[in-house]
This record gives sequence, structure tokens and C-alpha cells, in this order.
Amino acid sequence: MRILAIESSCDETAVAVVADGRYVLSSCVASQIDAHAVYGGVVPEIASRMHVEAISPLYHQALAEAGMHPTDIDAVAVTYAPGLIGALLVGVNFAKGLAMALCKPLIPVHHIRAHIAANYLSAEESEPVRPPFLALVVSGGHTQIIGVDGYTTFRILGRSRDDAVGECLDKSARKLGLPYPGGVHLDRLGQGGNPSAYRFPRPKVENAPYDFSFSGLKTVAVNLIHNNKDLNQKDFAASLQAACADYLAGHAVQAAHDFGYDTVALAGGVSANCFLRQKMEQCSNLAGLHLVLPPFAWCGDNAAMIGAQAYYEYQAGHTAGLSLNAQASHSAE
Ligand code: KG4
Ligand code: ZN
Repeated sequence: MRILAIESSCDETAVAVVADGRYVLSSCVASQIDAHAVYGGVVPEIASRMHVEAISPLYHQALAEAGMHPTDIDAVAVTYAPGLIGALLVGVNFAKGLAMALCKPLIPVHHIRAHIAANYLSAEESEPVRPPFLALVVSGGHTQIIGVDGYTTFRILGRSRDDAVGECLDKSARKLGLPYPGGVHLDRLGQGGNPSAYRFPRPKVENAPYDFSFSGLKTVAVNLIHNNKDLNQKDFAASLQAACADYLAGHAVQAAHDFGYDTVALAGGVSANCFLRQKMEQCSNLAGLHLVLPPFAWCGDNAAMIGAQAYYEYQAGHTAGLSLNAQASHSAE
């Protein structure tokens, strides 16, 4: 089954063609990073306008790269939630028009479910992970521990009560003067730094062992940058990321143990972070858990992951009519 998938929830317009939820026939991404960088963060109105400009050329490019004609598509999938409402609406409306014109099913996909499904995209020779497993979802907007009990059956076991870890890293990076989006630059800066040079509070929530609170950690990090004229930026970057990675990996592995999962997968933009990947390897090795890390290419926002999840949503009968609407916030459960 060949699904044409569309993603436009934030600052990347993306269109991909994915076969059987696994084989990426094409994946095209138009990033808006340069446009937002001058403002130090995503400007929703600019994001919507740029999605409108990019989506049609990307659709033609994705088809051409897959060597396909529009009528070869079996279904159209689109991210409908969560994200910036104006941005989501561009993808949803384009997908609706396409599905109607081609008389093909329309499959709505939840962005977080799709980040998890990035782990199903693989080279032909290796067997991808299958549910049940536990996913640690770490992105710019979400930090969640999710039990993936089936391809379309999810349990949110823990979540951030305030900021996501990506927000904490991005804000700290911005205060250091690193370019937007800061996470990847902080990752590079921290390589070879001393991870014990600076101390940070643990992002814990009383009486909720799998929940997180990153806003306090973010405030401590920002204050440290403001108040410390002799800050060693490299050591700061290493210490902050080590603190986040320690806590996230430790808690994901603990949750896997407590809820009886033998496999843990990372998902979301921050899963490209080297500190977190290494810590996940250490913690899951120690606990005897199987670890799945998404390939770097599928960590950030892309449409291939939408096509992967869409395949399973379709099999579960989750299609939509032309009344499909975008939703800014919506649970992955
Ligand atoms: O999943 P994503 O692309 O978008 C959302 O759904 O939010 O995640 C974006 C987040 C940003 O906070 C970005 O700074 C972060 O992922 N990110 C990283 C790295 N690459 C991307 N954070 C830390 N280290 C990285 N290597
Ligand atoms: Zn994302």
C-alpha cells in the first residue's frame, strides 16, 4: 500500500511516499529554519504562509522522486494534531483536496504517534521493532513516556507538567547566543565538555514518578548564564545535557521495568541528541532492555514517519471524511 503523507505541524513542510508503513519511496522536506532564525523562534503566521507556498511543489517533487503518477497513490495521510493550528490547517486542507480529487481514503495521523512510528522505517534487511514497547518521546513541544501496546494503542505513563525538554535546551542555547533551533548546536558545543562542571536540579514531580517538570531546570540554566560572567560554555552545555539525559533515560528505563516492557524506543527531535542516545544505551544495557534508536534522518519532523503510522491507522479503520479538522492540542492516546 503506497501512502502519500503530509506534515505541516510546525516549521517544516514535508511530503513523502511510504510503502507498507516501512519503505520510504521519497521524502521531501522544506525547512523554514532560516526564516524563523532571525526572530529566535517560530512565528506562527510566517510558518502558515510558508507552508502554503511550499506544499504544492513538494507534493510534485515527492511523486516525481517516487517515480509515481498521482493515480498510483492508494491513500493520503496528514498530520491533524497537535501543532500550530494555522500550520496544521494548510496540510489538512491540501490533503482533503487531494483525497477528494483522487477519490482515495484520507488518513488523519497524530504527530506524536508518527514520531514513534519513525522507528518502523528501516532498511529492507533489518526487522523493525514491533509493539509492545515503551517509547520515550522527546521533542520541542512534548516530553512523554508512552506505552505502545499496539500500533494504534497507546498509554501515556508519564509526561512533562510544564516545559518540554526541547524547550529547556532551546531556551538555554538561545541565551548562550547559539543559532535557532538551539538543541543541535548545544549538542555539538557540549561534545568533550565536562558533564559534572555545573549542577542542575532534577526535573522531578513529587508523587508522580514518571512525570517531569523542566521549567525549573530551564530557569536555573538561564539564570546561570545571566549571572556567571566566567561561564565555561562547553562545560555548561555538557552538564545541562547530561542532567537531562540522566533523568530521562533513568526514568524511561525504570518505567519499562515497572510496566513490564522489554524494549525501549526513543522518538522525537531530541532523540538525535548524542548525550541522550549514549545514556539510553548505558541505562538499557544495565537493565537488560532492548533499545531502539531512530535513524538520525527520521528524528526531526518529516513526512515519512506520518506515512509509517498512517499504514497502521488505516488497518485499524481510522480514516476521515472531508469534515476532518486540525487540532492544536490532542492526546496521543
Ligand atoms: O520533533 P521536533 O522536530 O519538533 C517537534 O515536534 O517539536 O523537535 C524539535 C526539537 C527542537 O527543540 C530541537 O532543538 C530539538 O528537537 N533537537 C535537538 C537535537 N536536534 C533537534 N535537541 C538536542 N540535540 C539535538 N541533536
Ligand atoms: Zn515533531
